[in-house]
Amino acid sequence: MIIVLDFGGQYNQLIARRVRDLGVYSELIPFDTPADQIKSMNPKGIIFSGGPASVYVENAPIVDPKIYQLGIPILGICYGMQLMTHQLAGKVERANVREYGKANIQIKTDSLLYKELDKTQQVWMSHSDLVIEPPKGFQVDASTEHAPIAAMSHPEKHYYAVQFHPEVQHSLYGMDMLKNFLFDVCKVEKNWSMETFIEDKLHEIRGIVGDKKVLCALSGGVDSSVVAVLIHRAIGDQLTCMFVDHGLLRKGEAESVMEVFGEKFNMNVIKIDAKDRFLTKLQGISDPEQKRKIIGNEFIRVFEEESNKLGEFDFLAQGTLYTDIIESGTKTAQTIKSHHNVGGLPEDIRFELIEPLNTLFKDEVRKVGTELGIPDEIVWRQPFPGPGLAIRVLGEVTEEKLQIVRDSDQILRDEIKAAHLDREIWQYFTVLPDIKSVGVMGDVRTYAYTVGIRAVTSIDGMTADWARIPFEVLEKISNRIVNEVDGVNRIVLDITSKPPSTIEWE
Ligand code: XMP
Repeated sequence: MIIVLDFGGQYNQLIARRVRDLGVYSELIPFDTPADQIKSMNPKGIIFSGGPASVYVENAPIVDPKIYQLGIPILGICYGMQLMTHQLAGKVERANVREYGKANIQIKTDSLLYKELDKTQQVWMSHSDLVIEPPKGFQVDASTEHAPIAAMSHPEKHYYAVQFHPEVQHSLYGMDMLKNFLFDVCKVEKNWSMETFIEDKLHEIRGIVGDKKVLCALSGGVDSSVVAVLIHRAIGDQLTCMFVDHGLLRKGEAESVMEVFGEKFNMNVIKIDAKDRFLTKLQGISDPEQKRKIIGNEFIRVFEEESNKLGEFDFLAQGTLYTDIIESGTKTAQTIKSHHNVGGLPEDIRFELIEPLNTLFKDEVRKVGTELGIPDEIVWRQPFPGPGLAIRVLGEVTEEKLQIVRDSDQILRDEIKAAHLDREIWQYFTVLPDIKSVGVMGDVRTYAYTVGIRAVTSIDGMTADWARIPFEVLEKISNRIVNEVDGVNRIVLDITSKPPSTIEWE
């Protein structure tokens, strides 16, 4: 395993991901993890990530100095390089020219990190501090126009450091450098793949569960679907899935969940029809946060009541991902919206949790899903918020408005798919602002709803850009919605990025 120490840089998860892509298990852990704990994890290499701080400011994040005595190879990236310099008594200063973007490095040594790579190559830089004097015993491996010490190493100690970011695609040979670090410097073995992951997990789940019973809240999203199928493969009918239809799902979604899991996989799925309960609770409510809270609480209530009826369960399966764990562990960000996960349950739950995906990134979960034979429509399903369409109907939620969103959303999905844009655009949906406007249809004046189209590209939903859907596709979507969905006479396109907007409208 390779450990990545997290200093808060924007590409940090990507480092761990890249290492896994190279077939080696990697974890991102806090920068201040004590050396003893790191040693007990038995890593074959440690990577110090980038981060926004400067090493010379007060309380700058540093690693436990004993890490340098563990005899484990280290790769410092950006802030990681500056930190290594600082802690090993070299010098770091603010750069005269802040480098951001593409740069060319000249490699000057035969350092293992650049084995068999071009001596001049493009890398991605993003820094305002610079190493101006390497620590004792280090050689300078590469420079750029503005960074005379763009990379350095201490080959006997197996310490390597780069000012640029090998983990991003703009560093053309970045993956090769990481590969050299893993296999030539750390001499680690390639043993991480989705097939081995599944085999290991099946074994582990059987060991933990024994002959006991597991309950799983199935939402139809990728994560809970993969968890359910994985556990079902391990323990068969000892698993019961509960699917709560809160009436705020997209068109055809409830039917498709029952068909795939109940029929294709022959799993024990219980569908709870709670539409009326949710709609009644939402009556007269137009404040977005209040809607979210009502739905979250009601979900928990339904889940508790219905699971009580099913008898005793020992375990509750959840589709928690590695990113959920990293984010909740390090997040200091203020709550912009209170996110509600279907399956986000109260703290005093009476089950033991079982979370077999909690070491995986989203794209790895997709690979596991495909490997398990889950259909593409589910494996590649776009993210869908727990509170569902209730936060896409602005103002009070009514069945009439939900129907407009369901129908228009279905048309949008059809056309995006027909234009082969469904994997390119990260998330796309329609919203119903609480606006009516005047129109004319067949010589008759209309006064009807406006539908908004929201489509974004993103990597993780934290930031997003509005998707540039071709005009011809937009034209078709607009025509179809106005002609086919009752009560709509105008279509608008949301062209804001996140920030300053958010992806959802509520
Ligand atoms: P925002 O609107 O905050 O959305 O930019 C970012 C991503 O999160 C999804 N989202 C949610 N997901 N429960 C969820 O599971 C929620 O309450 C929730 N609210 C927003 C949103 O669809 C987007 O992908």
